[in-house]
Amino acid sequence: MSCIFLSCLLCSLQVKLKLAILSSYDDATDGLITHGWIKKVETHGCLVNFYNGVQGFACRSELGLDPGCEASSMYHAGQVVKCRVLSAVPASRRINISFLMSPTRRCCIKVG
Ligand SMILES: *[C@@H]1O[C@H](CO)[C@@H](O)[C@H](O)[C@H]1NC(C)=O
Repeated sequence: MSCIFLSCLLCSLQVKLKLAILSSYDDATDGLITHGWIKKVETHGCLVNFYNGVQGFACRSELGLDPGCEASSMYHAGQVVKCRVLSAVPASRRINISFLMSPTRRCCIKVG
């Protein structure tokens, strides 16, 4: 009984975490996990949109790509991505984000 109750609590907590909304630069606390939409894929990283015009940048090393892999082979504009805030300077409206939730790296298949 208490077990079920606890797992329900954890479950709703997870849902809450999943729905974390980043709608101002002041909300961008280190480690915050939220969803964003890729605005632009560049060779050195991805520009990501959040709510209210808030933007963040994930540099190439934070995309989970293999060294020889193009960012554009895994990501495209409009794609919804889960991001983790690495660091933010609200005063200068800069947010560094990562697509990696943990230090373990994903691989992707090299093309060509
Ligand atoms: C984001 O990362 C770059 C490169 O590591 C660094 O120069 C910059 O200061 C960082 N910006 C913020 C807002 O932490």
